[in-house]
Amino acid sequence: MRSASLSIEYKTAEQLALMRAPGLLVAQTLDLVRQAVAPGVCTADLDAMAERNIRAAGGIPSFKGYFGYPASLCTSVNEQIVHAIPAKTQVLREGDLISIDCGAIVDGWHGDAAVTVPVGEVPAELERMIRAAEDAMWTGLAAAADGTASGRGRLTDISAAIESRIRSAGRYGIVRGYGGHGIGTEMHQDPHVLNYGRPGKGPRLVPGMALAIEPMITVGSPETVQLADGWTVVTKDGSLAVHVEHTVALFEDGVWVTTAHDGGLARLGADRLTSRAR
Ligand code: MF3
Ligand code: CO
Repeated sequence: MRSASLSIEYKTAEQLALMRAPGLLVAQTLDLVRQAVAPGVCTADLDAMAERNIRAAGGIPSFKGYFGYPASLCTSVNEQIVHAIPAKTQVLREGDLISIDCGAIVDGWHGDAAVTVPVGEVPAELERMIRAAEDAMWTGLAAAADGTASGRGRLTDISAAIESRIRSAGRYGIVRGYGGHGIGTEMHQDPHVLNYGRPGKGPRLVPGMALAIEPMITVGSPETVQLADGWTVVTKDGSLAVHVEHTVALFEDGVWVTTAHDGGLARLGADRLTSRAR
């Protein structure tokens, strides 16, 4: 992948600031939906709740109609990694893991984030696995902040930071091929952000970029299979997967995690945040 062949949308600080509104709407929608997660609830009901909440706030669910995708959320349960379509027939059971992925548009700007939550009680090792993915995501977000601040950071510094954090957490599979992405006036933009690889490659991390950072890890093999519905991505070996995501905007004086209520303050520290986020 040569940087020169990428089409990155570099935003002004004012444009990046406009990404806070869709980011917060996604954060608030995910809060609402995660509170509704319980045994006996079907994923279609979670989706309806999300769509209602986004539209009531004047936003547009960005997933709906995206290359024909039929829903406002991706609700990926257990061995489903990402892009699973909510369904009436998919009823959550005690012990399941569900990744809830949500995207919204406000005034033409996008926010994209995901959480993985346990349904009822799950074994402690699955709680640890969720924490490992979250820690890896925040390590990637910190790498984005530090690489921008130093003026010497490159895209794959984020990938390498995510990979090393996952590897230090345990023997997890790191999903191949899928990853994060640029985001702005469209949900998916260049560059693609893999969750593994050597540092120091790809485009420079500079103010004006906005990225969605989304680690995906598995209990077993990192290999994936796409189901016949054309969307759902599952682990090839049927092992459980965890997926989490945040959107981050890179400013001259620090970053803003647009899809985090506190802008990233608790996990990144005030020194890494733009003054706009404080
Ligand atoms: N957050 C998901 C991603 O970045 C969004 C999938 S949207 C869908 O891949 F429309 F493709 F479902
Ligand atoms: Co995304």
